[in-house]
Amino acid sequence: MITKLLDIENLHVSFISNDREFEAVKGVTFSLNKGETLGIVGESGSGKSVTARSIMRLLPSPPSLLKEGSIKFLGQELTEKTDQEMEKIRGKEISMIFQDPMTSLNPSIKIGVQIAEGIRKHRDVSKEQAKKETIELLELVGIQQPETRFKQYPHEFSGGMRQRVMIAMALACQPELLIADEPTTALDVTIQAQILRLMKQMQQKFETSIILITHDLGVVAGMCDKVIVMKEGEIVEANTTEEIFNNPQHPYTKRLLNALPKLHEKKNKKSANATGRYGPYCPAS
Ligand SMILES: Nc1ncnc2c1ncn2[C@@H]1O[C@H](COP(=O)(O)OP(=O)(O)OP(=O)(O)O)[C@@H](O)[C@H]1O
Ligand SMILES: [Mg+2]
Repeated sequence: MITKLLDIENLHVSFISNDREFEAVKGVTFSLNKGETLGIVGESGSGKSVTARSIMRLLPSPPSLLKEGSIKFLGQELTEKTDQEMEKIRGKEISMIFQDPMTSLNPSIKIGVQIAEGIRKHRDVSKEQAKKETIELLELVGIQQPETRFKQYPHEFSGGMRQRVMIAMALACQPELLIADEPTTALDVTIQAQILRLMKQMQQKFETSIILITHDLGVVAGMCDKVIVMKEGEIVEANTTEEIFNNPQHPYTKRLLNALPKLHEKKNKKSANATGRYGPYCPAS
């Protein structure tokens, strides 16, 4: 049975400063079913992050203003929730992974404590239980010696490891929806592939739905069931990943596709692997 998880309709978000209005998101409509992965691609400034942060209600208002539209999550209208109600939903039902994990990790609190606190915020478990679950989570995301790592601070972790910690934190309460905003852009290609694989494994294990924001159509091919392409605050194209790749309609989508390294044009297998880690024309099942 298909369960509709998220339904966004005609979302308009503006930023107001000095009585001037800038429309960052102009009438965005899309939906997501349980277990699905949606990719959002589009040039810089096209409104991808503003859309994502609107779902989480993480945009400060002012200067942001949700002018119009509906964001329904499992039938609940998120735009009408109070901040307190949203606090309960964030981290528990909807989690977000940001591009730079340092902005979401507290540098002065031990990694393990941060994850355990996240668990205890949303669930009534003992300190010991939260610690046990945290260590299991760290292990699950591929962090070795999790007992030792539990007691370390963010600066003692590499960029890739911090991103794994973010995934562990995001998944600690087994959210229905994970929003990943450029989760691997800052990482090198090998680590990037590992993190994406990990997200997929977690998705299969917990049946999480994912919104994945990325500049990289190769990543989309490997991860997403469907894609929306944004430009200047609007969706210019929306389709299944397969259709986007095989039959792109909008010139911007075509340009994005043309910019991809094509595996069949590579003479040398080694370089194909290095650039086309998710082969642009072979969406994973
Ligand atoms: N806090 C803010 N105040 C004013 N304008 C903002 C704010 N946040 C975003 N904007 C504007 O909204 C527009 C959309 O920004 P957004 O961050 O959604 O882009 P994006 O598609 O995520 O781009 P990128 O790929 O660079 O991350 C941009 O023009 C940006 O300058
Ligand atoms: Mg962004």
